[in-house]
Amino acid sequence: MRTSSLCISLLLAFAIKAQFNNPLAIPPALEEDTFHLVVDEQVHEFYPGVFTPTYGASAEYLGPTLILHKGDTARIQVQNELAQFTSMHWHGLHLPGEFDGGPPRMVMPGETWDVKFAVKNPAATYWYHPHPHELTAEQATFGVAGMIIVRDDAEAALDLPRTYGVDDIPLVVQDRRFLANGSFFFGPFGDSVLVNGTPRPFIELPAQVVRLRLLNGSNARVYNLGFDDGRSFPVIAGDGGLLSAPAPTDRLRLSNGERAEVLLDLTGMQGDSLMLMSFGSELPSTIPGSSYILWESSALSGIDFPVLRIRVAAPTATPVTEVPVALVPTSPPNISDVSVTRNKSFSGTGMAGMGQFFINGLQFNMDVVNDSVMLGATEIWRVENASSIAHPFHIHGGSFYLLDRNDNPVPAWEEGAKDVVLVEVAEHVRFMMKFEDYTTDGWPYMYHCHNLMHEDDGMMLQYVVVDPNVAVPAPTDSDELSVFPSPTQNILSFSAPFPVEELSVVDGLGREVMRQQVPKVPGGSIDMSSLRPGAYVLMLHGGARSARTVVMRN
Ligand code: C2O
Ligand code: CU
Ligand code: CU
Repeated sequence: MRTSSLCISLLLAFAIKAQFNNPLAIPPALEEDTFHLVVDEQVHEFYPGVFTPTYGASAEYLGPTLILHKGDTARIQVQNELAQFTSMHWHGLHLPGEFDGGPPRMVMPGETWDVKFAVKNPAATYWYHPHPHELTAEQATFGVAGMIIVRDDAEAALDLPRTYGVDDIPLVVQDRRFLANGSFFFGPFGDSVLVNGTPRPFIELPAQVVRLRLLNGSNARVYNLGFDDGRSFPVIAGDGGLLSAPAPTDRLRLSNGERAEVLLDLTGMQGDSLMLMSFGSELPSTIPGSSYILWESSALSGIDFPVLRIRVAAPTATPVTEVPVALVPTSPPNISDVSVTRNKSFSGTGMAGMGQFFINGLQFNMDVVNDSVMLGATEIWRVENASSIAHPFHIHGGSFYLLDRNDNPVPAWEEGAKDVVLVEVAEHVRFMMKFEDYTTDGWPYMYHCHNLMHEDDGMMLQYVVVDPNVAVPAPTDSDELSVFPSPTQNILSFSAPFPVEELSVVDGLGREVMRQQVPKVPGGSIDMSSLRPGAYVLMLHGGARSARTVVMRN
C-alpha cells in the first residue's frame, strides 16, 4: 500500500500534469564491422533532478540501433559488466542456435561473448534484448534492449523514407513505474510511457511522408496505436519484412515484442501537430492494458493516452511525398510442403504479472527438449489460448506466416512475415513456418509467451532442429548406416558398414546421454527406454571409421 501511494504521488507530479515537451531521444544508429555492446549498471535522469538506477547496453538506458545488411556477416561482442549473468537474444533474426542467445547461452559477469552470423533476414525492424533464465523481465525493465534495422536491396529500390532520425524514426514504446526515490518499480505495468526512454516526448517531423518503426518493448502492456485525428495510416512492414502492399488501418494492436513500420503522411501540415495515441479503452478486458483488473493495473490501463506528440516542421530537400502502391512480394512457405502440424495450447489462470501459465501443460525446463523439428521441414503450428488472458506467442529461429485466426483470414497488416502473434482468450491461431538453414546443434531455440513476466515464470518451452541426414565426419558411411525402428519407445537396432567398437547417444542439447562398448560387430541394439522422448544423434565408432544418424525416441 505504501508503494502504491508513492506511485500515485509521482504519477500526479509526472503524468497528470504532463506536457509533451521533452525532445524524443533517438538512439545512435551504428553501422560497424564489429559492434560492441557493454551491458552495465548505469544511472539515468528520466525526469529532471530524479536519478534512476538503470542497466544499459553501451548507454544509460536502452542501447544503440544496430544497422545490418542482408548478405553481410554480423559480428557483435556482448560484454557483461553486470553483477549477474545475462544473455543477449537477436529477436526475429534467423541465425544458428549457438548465436541465438536464449537462456542456455549465458554470458557470465565479466565475460565477453563473441557473436557472428550471416544476415539472412529481409529488411525490417528487429531488436535485441537479454534472455537470461528468470531474469529477462528485470534486465529488460532496467533498460537492456535496442533496435536492429536490417536493410536490403529490395527495400532500397523503393521510394521509402529511410533517413534515420529525420524521416525514419525508431520508436521503442515501454511503460515504466517510478518510485518516489526515482527507482523503477519492477512489475508488469507502469504508469509512465517512455518512448526511446523519453517520458512525455515530442518530435519534430518534416511535412512529408515519414516512416515510424514501432516496437512494443514493454513487459506486459499491449498498445492499441492510432492518431488523435482519427486518420487511417498505411502499415508497410510487420515483424519480419515488408508487406506486399501498404495495409491501411486506423488502429494497430501491438503486443509485446511485436514490431510494425507505418507511414505517416504529413504533407501540407507544417506548423500543425498530431498525437500518436494508444486507445487502451478499446481493448477487450482480457488483454493486458485494458482495465481488466484494477489492482494489478496502472493509471494507464483501460484509458486512451498519448504516446508521442508530433510537431510538423518544414519538409526536407528531397522529401518522399507519396505512399508506394506496391512493396515487396511476401514469400510464405508452400502449404503443400507442410509435413507436420503441432498443437500448442495455453492454459492456466492469473493476470499479467502473477498466476501460473502453461504451454501444453508444461513449463520451462532447460534440461528438456520439448519438440524436435526436422531441418528443412515446413510445419503448421496451431496455437490456442485456453487460459484466462491474452498471450503474445513468440518463436525463435525465424519468421512465420499466419494462416488464420479462429479459421478467419487475418487483417492485411498481419499478412507478412512475423515472429510474435497475440492470441486472444478462446482464440486459435495457425501459422506456417519453414525451419531451414540451421540445426540447433546443442543450442535449442525457444518458443514462449512474450509477456516477460509470464516468460520468466516458465511460460516457455524449447525445440531443436535436427538434420535427418546429419553431416558425418569423414570417412563416412552414413548411407549404409541403418536404424530401426525410429521412432522407438525402447529397443533400437542398428547396422553399420563396419565393425562397431563403441557407440554413443547425444541429446538435443549436445550432451552425451549414453556410451557403450560394442564387441566389434557391425550390428546391435540399444535400449532407449530410459531416455526422454525427442531426437538424439546416434554415433558409432570402429577403428578409423565412424557414422552417425538421427534417431527418435517417442
Ligand atoms: Cu524477444 Cu525469446 O524473445
Ligand atoms: Cu526471439
Ligand atoms: Cu502470457
